[in-house]
Formats: sequence, structure tokens, C-alpha cells
Amino acid sequence: MSPASVTLLCHLAVLSLLAHVLLLLPACSAADVDFIYNGFRNAANLSTEDAASVLRGGVLQLTNDTNKIMGHAFYDSAVQMVRDSAVVSFSTAFVFEIVSVSSGGGHGMAFVVAASKTLPGASVDQYLGLMGKDNMGNLSNHVFAVEFDTVQANGLLNEANGNHVGVDLNSLVSNVSEPAAYFADDNGSSNVSVQLESAQPIQTWVDYDGVTKILNVTIAPVNSVPARPRRALISHAVDLIPIFKQEMYVGFSSSTGKLASSHYVLAWSFRTGGAAAEPIDLSRLPKVPKKPAPPPSVSVVIKIVALSCAVTVTAIVAAIGSAIWLRRRAALAETLEEWELDNPHRFPYKELHMATKGFKDSELLGAGGFGQVYRGVLRRTGDVVAVKRISSNGRQGMREFVAEVASLGRMRHRNLVELRGWCKRGQDLLLVYEFMPHGSLDALLFGGGAQSPVLTWEQRSRILRGVASGLVYLHEEWEQVVVHRDVKASNVLLAADMGARLGDFGLARLYEHGADPATTRVVGTLGYMAPELAVTGKATTATDVFAYGALLLEAACGRRPIDPVTGVNLMRWVRDHGVRGDLVHAVDGRLDGCYDKVEARLVLWLGLSCSQARPEARPSMRQVCQYLDGEEAVPEEAVLVFSDVDTVDFGSLTSLTWSSCATMSVGSQRHGGR
Ligand SMILES: *[C@@H]1O[C@H](CO)[C@@H](O)[C@H](O)[C@H]1NC(C)=O
Ligand SMILES: *[C@@H]1O[C@H](CO)[C@@H](O)[C@H](O)[C@H]1NC(C)=O
Ligand SMILES: *[C@@H]1O[C@H](CO)[C@@H](O)[C@H](O)[C@H]1NC(C)=O
Ligand SMILES: *[C@@H]1O[C@H](CO)[C@@H](O)[C@H](O)[C@H]1NC(C)=O
Ligand SMILES: *[C@@H]1O[C@H](CO)[C@@H](O)[C@H](O)[C@H]1NC(C)=O
Ligand SMILES: *[C@@H]1O[C@H](CO)[C@@H](O)[C@H](O)[C@H]1NC(C)=O
Ligand SMILES: *[C@@H]1O[C@H](CO)[C@@H](O)[C@H](O)[C@H]1NC(C)=O
Repeated sequence: MSPASVTLLCHLAVLSLLAHVLLLLPACSAADVDFIYNGFRNAANLSTEDAASVLRGGVLQLTNDTNKIMGHAFYDSAVQMVRDSAVVSFSTAFVFEIVSVSSGGGHGMAFVVAASKTLPGASVDQYLGLMGKDNMGNLSNHVFAVEFDTVQANGLLNEANGNHVGVDLNSLVSNVSEPAAYFADDNGSSNVSVQLESAQPIQTWVDYDGVTKILNVTIAPVNSVPARPRRALISHAVDLIPIFKQEMYVGFSSSTGKLASSHYVLAWSFRTGGAAAEPIDLSRLPKVPKKPAPPPSVSVVIKIVALSCAVTVTAIVAAIGSAIWLRRRAALAETLEEWELDNPHRFPYKELHMATKGFKDSELLGAGGFGQVYRGVLRRTGDVVAVKRISSNGRQGMREFVAEVASLGRMRHRNLVELRGWCKRGQDLLLVYEFMPHGSLDALLFGGGAQSPVLTWEQRSRILRGVASGLVYLHEEWEQVVVHRDVKASNVLLAADMGARLGDFGLARLYEHGADPATTRVVGTLGYMAPELAVTGKATTATDVFAYGALLLEAACGRRPIDPVTGVNLMRWVRDHGVRGDLVHAVDGRLDGCYDKVEARLVLWLGLSCSQARPEARPSMRQVCQYLDGEEAVPEEAVLVFSDVDTVDFGSLTSLTWSSCATMSVGSQRHGGR
């Protein structure tokens, strides 16, 4: 063999070796596991055991609030956790939610890595379904867990308090445990506590570095802190090699004992090999089911009775001498717990008094016929809230209070104001909402001085879509039909991200799907009230659509439905512009022409379409959404009937241009436009 061919052979050998190495590389990392469940609907490769199941909406339920049950859920396949006699780095992110019927449920839940999907000795008790009292601390358990514990068990388990996060190694005696909290700032000098049992989604990140052997655990409430806080709650050096076997199973575990809660997992992402787990898509989180409501009339009556019972009890107690009275107050607060509506939370008066600095004028956000709204900071969580204090002018005030707690309190939608809780103390009726830093749409459209920025078209368009989506939820998606009855710009509030939240459910009426709404006292706000209300007295979803139409025109034109000075009716005014082929001049002049013309035309046409006289002629809120999203084409024929003698044929919307003339046929009595 010539030296040249030897060299060539060497080269070939090196090349084939390289090829082998290259081919082997993917084989190595193939042992890494990477999965994400953005909700568990049709979840593949997931097994649930005992009480655990995936609910229809895609939530993984570990336990319901039945006493003495446990639930487990695992990723089906074993995960290689030890490689070359070292623990593999892993990272997981998940969102959980714990809902308790009464304050102080139990016992909590855990993210678990275990050698087997059936956890040895697991019992229904305070051990979170991880083990039992007989095998606590046994080295053959091979159980690692990060626990979210809502009960403090007699100080025996090295627990920080009755609301803590802990790291468990083969034992429920936590190796390290911290009160549930997150660090808001980077240097993290102060932490903000998190209520685990809050019935709110809480995101968690657990990261273990197999090289440095540092375990980090971070939690944050999804609604107020969507991004991962920089500093971990727990950053703890621990070698997991005595705990981990080659193959382990990853999942969740929970149990109830004498105390019970519903424990849910909403989403989960997991990865081994060193990279961070794929971030969870928070916009796709499934919703935890609400308990089915009894028929509204009955439930509202019961609640009114319940609350007036409480009032009576208060009166009787007050009648007993003042010394006893003072001592009894604490006891009374306890009894009231039993009257407490399941949802939302009932706040102690003292807490709200403190949060609002004693309802100080400096904290006043607004006032109206209903009462005052104060800004408050909850001591316990540091959350900023808005506290509405209803001037309880007798039964009417109480009725609206109960309506709001009974309806809004149990709903959850990103375009509805979140009712955090309530409190009743004597004549003081208090409702606690999430705080809306940007105030109301009304104030932003009309309140601003010359220096405050005009809402852009994109902002208005997003707000309008948001309100529409909230109304679809109320009309069609919630367990009962909810007619808001007071859709208007001052009831549309804006969150920190300028997202719209529909608020003020004091006038809302609930009825069963398919039922005929009852006749009620006609309420609402002039300019937003559908004409048939005066005739039938029935608030329907179509009357909400009418009000929404007024809101569409109001936001697009920057004018009130009825001009307070001139008394001009905005709907007629826009209609006339349309008829003259001059819609361009109906759009808010302050926008200075900076808006999407096609969209503006759609919004104006839709506003008119919702303002039609006959309720059947108006689109449903779902159709409105479809039009706005471009999912449904607007009808070919755009004949709008504003009254028996006022019908306008705009032709098709696409031909309804800014300057072309539409044919008008006032008095033509044209019917069946849609
Ligand atoms: C389930 O497992 C199979 C085989 O391991 C894999 O191909 C598939 O992507 C997994 N599905 C999910 C949703 O993780
Ligand atoms: C709660 O879960 C237990 C165990 O799976 C089941 O037997 C019970 O029927 C459930 N209760 C409710 C109200 O769903
Ligand atoms: C630990 O568990 C194993 C297997 O269940 C059992 O055989 C052993 O006796 C236990 N050890 C102790 C100290 O309880
Ligand atoms: C935590 O675990 C380590 C071993 O990993 C042990 O040395 C230490 O004592 C444990 N601490 C507590 C409080 O259990
Ligand atoms: C935290 O760090 C920031 C800069 O990163 C600094 O401005 C701030 O004063 C620090 N806070 C405390 C309490 O040390
Ligand atoms: C958070 O703050 C509380 C009270 O100030 C303190 O007891 C707790 O140790 C802090 N948590 C952490 C992880 O520093
Ligand atoms: C854990 O936290 C520490 C301190 O913040 C950080 O240096 C480290 O990179 C983190 N490790 C992981 C695996 O996230």
C-alpha cells in the first residue's frame, strides 16, 4: 500500500468515525423528553389515576372537594432522569388552581417525580397523595416533590405556614419550605405573598441543574404577573441522585383529608436536557368549571333571605348589651361564614377599611348615583383593587348588590371585570373588583383635556371587539343567559394593557337558556335603550345588542349617543351621513384621518345595523363578533329598518363608499331587509 492510500484510508476512517459520532448525537439527545400541554383537552400520553380526570373543558382535575380522596396524573412514559450516574437537568412549567368551598380547604397538591406511577403507601390524608405515615422518609420511596400545601400540620412537617411551597425528598418533612410568594423586583428585597387557595391560576416553574445541583422553584399568579419573576422563591442546593432512579415518572399528586379542595392543573410543559421548558401559552388556559347555579330567582331570593337573616342576627346581637356585643362580633363573623356565597370571596370589613385607608377621600376614584369607588391596596397580597361602596338606599341597593355578587361573582372572562369579593357590614355594601388603571372608555373618549392623548383607532377597535366578546359570553356561553341591561361607555373599563372589561352588573338579569325573559322595570341609560323596551318592558339579548350598537357609533364618532347640549341623536346623525355618502365625516375628527377606512365603515354600518327598530333584525352578538373578525361576510343587501317609516337601502356594504350616494327611501315601508 502506498503511503498516499494509507493516508486516504485514515481520512476515510476518521470521516466514518465522525459520521458515527454525528449519527450518535441525535440518538443521545433523543433520550431527552420534551412535551407541552396547553390545556389537557384530548391530551395524549397522559394517564390519570384515582380521583383524577380531564374535564370536558380541558382542565386536569386531581381532586374535587370531596373529603378523603386522592388523585394522580402522570406523563405516560418513563423519563430518563439519570445519565452517566448524574441527574439530568430538567425544567417544568405549569399552571395550577386550587378552589375551596370554605376558607381553609385541604390539603394541597404537588409536582412529583417518582419511580413508579403507583406511589407506595400513599394515603388519603395530609400527605398530598405522595406517601403515607408508615413510609414517611423511607429511602426506598424514590419520591421527589414540590408541594403546594394549604394546611399547616401541627408544625411537624417543617412547614413555613398554612400556605407554603416546599421541596420534599422521600418525605413530607420538607427539605426546604417557604411561604408562597414571588419577588417583584430583581434584587428581591421584598416579596409579595401569593394565596395558593385563591381560586386563581398560579404559574410555577421548577428548574434543576444537574451540574450545579441547584433546584429553583418560582411561582406567580397568572392574572397579575404573567411573566416569570427574575428571582426564584426557592433556590436550593440539593443532590437528587439518592432519590432518582434511571427511569422516573413525572406528574402531579393531590389528596384531601378532613379538609377538602378542588385541585386543578390547567397547563403543563416539561423538558429534560438543560433547556428551559417551553413557555405556557397563557391565552389558551382552560377555565376551571364553576359550580352549576340554581335557578336565579330562587337563588337570589335565598341569598336575599340569607343576607337579611344576617342583618336580623346582627340586630339581635346588637340588642344584647354592648360589652357582650363587642365580644360577640368576632363570633358573629364566624357564623356568617356559613352564609357566605361560595364565590367570590367575602372580605372582612377591617381588611377593606385598611385597604382604602378608612375610605379616605384621597383614595376616591369616582362617585355616582350608586355610591363611591375607592382605590385600595390589600395588605395580604399587595394587590391593588377598586372597592365600590353602594349607598344602600333600602331594598334597591341590596338587590343590585346581590345581583352583582350572584352573577358577576361566578363568571370569568377576560372582557368582564373581575369581582374579587364582597363585604356587607350594616348599611355598608362593598364590592371588590380588580383595579382598572385606565378608568372608563367614557372618560377616555370625552373626559380628556386638550393635553390627554386621543384614543387611537386601533385601541378603539380592540376595545369594541373585547366588549363584543364579553357580551357573547354573557348571552351564549355562560350557564345562564345574562342580559347586562346597562352596556354603555362608562361601564367599559380599561385594564393596564388597554384591554376592555365590561363592568357594573348591578342591573343584570339572569334567565335560563331558552326561557322567556320576565318583564321588569325599564332601566338603562337614555340613548342606549332599545325602542321596544318601552313597549314590552322585556330586557333581552337584543336590547343589549342595541346598546352595543350605540357604543360602536359612540367610539367610532367620539360623540355621545344623545348629545347632552344639542340633543342630537347619534344614530340618526350617522345614518344621515351614510345616506349622503359622507360617512367619512362621521368618524371622530380627532383621529385626523388616522384609521383603517374599511374597518371604520364596517363599524359604522354595524352600529347602524344593531340600532334597528325590530329586535329580530339586529345581528346577535356572536354575529357581531364574526363581522368584526371578518369571519362572516356582511350581507349582500344592506337594507336597514330604523322604524316603520324609516328604511334605508344602503346597497351592499362593499359598495357603501365614503363619497358615493346611497339610495334613500324614507317612508317606503320596505321590510324583510335581512
Ligand atoms: C405521545 O407519545 C408519542 C410517542 O412517544 C409521541 O410521538 C407523541 O408526540 C406524544 N404526544 C404528545 C402530545 O406528547
Ligand atoms: C368527586 O370525586 C369522587 C372520586 O372520584 C367521586 O366519587 C365523586 O362522585 C365526585 N364528586 C362530585 C361532586 O363530582
Ligand atoms: C421501607 O420500605 C420498604 C419497602 O416498602 C420496607 O421493606 C422497609 O422495611 C421500609 N423501611 C423502613 C425503615 O420502614
Ligand atoms: C435536606 O437534604 C439534605 C440532603 O440532600 C440534608 O443534608 C439536609 O439535612 C436536609 N434538610 C432538611 C431540613 O431536611
Ligand atoms: C433593586 O435594584 C434596582 C436596580 O436593579 C435599584 O434601582 C433598586 O433601588 C433596588 N432596590 C432595593 C430595595 O435595593
Ligand atoms: C417573604 O417575606 C416574608 C415576610 O417578610 C418572610 O417571612 C419570608 O421569609 C420571605 N420569603 C423569602 C423567600 O424570602
Ligand atoms: C437558579 O437560580 C439561580 C439564582 O437566581 C441562578 O443563578 C441559576 O441559573 C438558576 N438555575 C436554574 C436551573 O434555573
